[in-house]
Amino acid sequence: QVNLKGRDLLELDDYTTEEIQYLLDLAIELKRKQKNGEVYQPLKGKTIGLIFEKSSTRTRVSFEVGAFQLGAHALFLSKNDIQLGRGEIISDTAQVLSRYLDGMMIRTFGHNNVVDLAKYASVPVINGLSDLAHPCQVLADYQTILEHKGKLKGLKLAYIGDGNNMAHSLMIGGAKLGVHVSVASPESYEPDAEVVKLSREIAKETGAEIVVTHSPQDAVKDADAIYTDVWASMGFEEEQKIREAAFKNYQVDEELVKGAKSDYLFMHCLPAHRGEEVSEGVIDGKNSVIFDQAENRLHAQKALMAALMG
Ligand code: CP
Ligand code: NVA
Repeated sequence: QVNLKGRDLLELDDYTTEEIQYLLDLAIELKRKQKNGEVYQPLKGKTIGLIFEKSSTRTRVSFEVGAFQLGAHALFLSKNDIQLGRGEIISDTAQVLSRYLDGMMIRTFGHNNVVDLAKYASVPVINGLSDLAHPCQVLADYQTILEHKGKLKGLKLAYIGDGNNMAHSLMIGGAKLGVHVSVASPESYEPDAEVVKLSREIAKETGAEIVVTHSPQDAVKDADAIYTDVWASMGFEEEQKIREAAFKNYQVDEELVKGAKSDYLFMHCLPAHRGEEVSEGVIDGKNSVIFDQAENRLHAQKALMAALMG
């Protein structure tokens, strides 16, 4: 019997395979309820604070709407509008907000901010994206693959591009769920070596294979899903030009996807830059599931909030 009440979610390695599977199943169940018009409000009277140090469309809206649907109230707390932006320390912020709120989400640059918030808060803290990890997105992504393919274990996901927060969480999540993950990045943009090592250790338990290569063609070979993300993440905008040069052979286009299975899923966390990391034909083509992924942010995070704060 899985019980996640009171837990934080900093990255998916915090959770067992069984706990992640439980969240995916719950997300699918809450999606079904919502589609059937069933009201389900286990968080009636509760509150969640959403701290944002970076921009957001999907994360903000899906958390706010999800909290509302579960009966809770969400507060959007832009870093610059709260005292955190004027230098109030995280530990004080965490302890003060814990006196009002039943849960917190934070989107920030340094992953240490997520860790510190969780350390000093007495309520659950959810990572809504840091430079290191984006576990909420990856819960929605594996839910999407599960819905389309009917299973996860033994499938192959190819990630093409920057070895960033998305690559990291997809590797950790894949390792936990038995999904083989091949990451193809240009030299000096590989995923973090510690994360690769951790993913491989986790993968030993599930039989997943975690591969890091410089060859997009090798990575996509017989893949069930091809994932990409922007070349310059939030906070790296000034490197846009250098990165365009470094990543020019890493576009997911009609030619590259020929190496994958014919029923492969094209995936992207969004926002996307058409004509850079992905061609228009691929992202808007018949294999693309980008809007299912975006929708599932709502259902996966409702599962998370209900499990942690319920
Ligand atoms: N994918 C994602 O996290 O989108 P936002 O930046 O719009 O929240
Ligand atoms: N890697 C991207 C993901 C956005 C959802 C970023 O960090 O900007």
